[in-house]
Amino acid sequence: MTSTGDYSSKTIREQAARRRTFAVISHPDAGKSTLTEALALHARVIGQAGATHGKAGRRATVSDWQKMEQERGISISSAALQFEYRDAVLNLIDTPGHADFSEDTYRVLSSVDCTIMLVDAAKGLETQTMKLFEVCAHRNIPIITVINKWDRPGLEPLELMDEIRERTGMLPTPLTWPVGASGDFRGVLNRADGTYTKYTRSDGGASIAGEETMDAEAAEALEGDAFTTAVDESDLLEMEEQNHDQESFLAAKSTPVMFAAAVLNFGVHKILDTLVDLAPPAEPRPDKNGEPRPVDAPFSGFVFKVQAGMDANHRDRLAYIRVCSGVFERGMVVTHASTGKPFATKYAQQVFGRDRAVIDEAFPGDVVGLVNASALRVGDSLYLDQPVEFPGIPTFSPEHFMVIRAKDSSKYKQFRRGIEQLDHEGVVQVLRSDLRGDQAPVLGAVGPMQFEVAEDRMVQEFNAPCRLEPLPYTIARRTTEECVPTLARERSVEVLSRSDGELLALFSDRWRLQGVERQHPDLVLEPLVVS
Ligand code: G4P
Repeated sequence: MTSTGDYSSKTIREQAARRRTFAVISHPDAGKSTLTEALALHARVIGQAGATHGKAGRRATVSDWQKMEQERGISISSAALQFEYRDAVLNLIDTPGHADFSEDTYRVLSSVDCTIMLVDAAKGLETQTMKLFEVCAHRNIPIITVINKWDRPGLEPLELMDEIRERTGMLPTPLTWPVGASGDFRGVLNRADGTYTKYTRSDGGASIAGEETMDAEAAEALEGDAFTTAVDESDLLEMEEQNHDQESFLAAKSTPVMFAAAVLNFGVHKILDTLVDLAPPAEPRPDKNGEPRPVDAPFSGFVFKVQAGMDANHRDRLAYIRVCSGVFERGMVVTHASTGKPFATKYAQQVFGRDRAVIDEAFPGDVVGLVNASALRVGDSLYLDQPVEFPGIPTFSPEHFMVIRAKDSSKYKQFRRGIEQLDHEGVVQVLRSDLRGDQAPVLGAVGPMQFEVAEDRMVQEFNAPCRLEPLPYTIARRTTEECVPTLARERSVEVLSRSDGELLALFSDRWRLQGVERQHPDLVLEPLVVS
């Protein structure tokens, strides 16, 4: 048989259609860990019982893997969690939740087909939510909005809808509408059929909350004004045509909205149902030339994250692959598109934070972790039989820069190896120039925490203690070789080359950049935008 082994095209298409691969984007503290845990509680976690994310205390810290993460109680790296709900297989890709985000967060979004934008009812759209939203919007990823913490006093629901509309440009189309103001969460009006789902607390939120659905008459008798207010507000939305429209949702022009209290497990079933009913399945993914790769073509996938040092017992390198077509079977030998070399997948694993389960097969939409994958870089494609290359994963415009030097010159070899590896994984961007030499390259990062991760790993993993000194630049622009002599004559401007071959001109601030642009209008100084 062919490359798809024992699986017929029909089976593969059916499996792809069952997949929902998504991430939760939110500002820290909006309740992402709590929601993840609640989703897992309501669904059946495949492979690893009880594997969830979370912070200290009752929750096991599955995605918080590094020592530093544990100390700070934040998660820096991403893991994937797979569970079954109804007839669907849901892949939840974890995005780092700390305020100081890095490229990593952006990259994992290249692997998902849909996102849940989790909003704190009292805070509305916060800064990190907006940044992540922009990445999703740029990639046209459909977004489902969940207003969380409705059990606590917060903003008016209509006010929240206005904010979403104004700040994201998407039309909010609530699927449910809260009965009871924020702080008095009784249940939700299901806008599609006018029924009411009443929620009842279970002890401590550790088990599934009670839900009872009734018709409008019974709801009005039970909840009185709280229900009629919800109906009136829903009518207002109706007048504004804020009703779900699948086509505009898939085009990321509108966003279905739900109300929830993750900590009480209120509204969690509805979120899962919405993912299954509305979120897009794994579909043919366009290759570099825009040609969609059918899901039943032979296996293909791309690396969206590379990670090392997951835990002290597994000092290895893990590459996360999103499967795009065909079936991944452990042991298969695939081709690494950028080198044309074979890559054996004997050590494929499904990754649930610290716990790992060996994976035997994976379908389009699934995530596979490949161990000892030092040859793989973020953005690389892998395939079987029929060559394919998916578009590269963009790098982002660094805003923080540091010079890095080995503290101990006798450890220079380790230092070089460490820098190379961090560059390879995309932990930081490594920038060089003849002037600075190889002993003191410049690291560029989107968020300053990337430097801490880099420094920590240089010491722990590569045994190369180093010194970091900040540089006074905040803006990078892409330039060309021809512009270098002119730029070199400017004060507070420096040109460095990145390992992907791009030449970056660094400026102290926007004003300096504008000054240079005014003086030399012919210079090529292009923003490094998300692509
Ligand atoms: P994050 O991953 O987005 O950073 O948020 P996380 O789930 O850790 O939640 C942040 C805080 O918000 C936690 O409280 C959590 O219990 C609380 N929370 C999450 N969802 C809800 C909700 O629906 N309603 C209410 N009232 N609170 C919610 P904490 O005190 O920081 O931690 P913990 O001691 O409760 O674990």
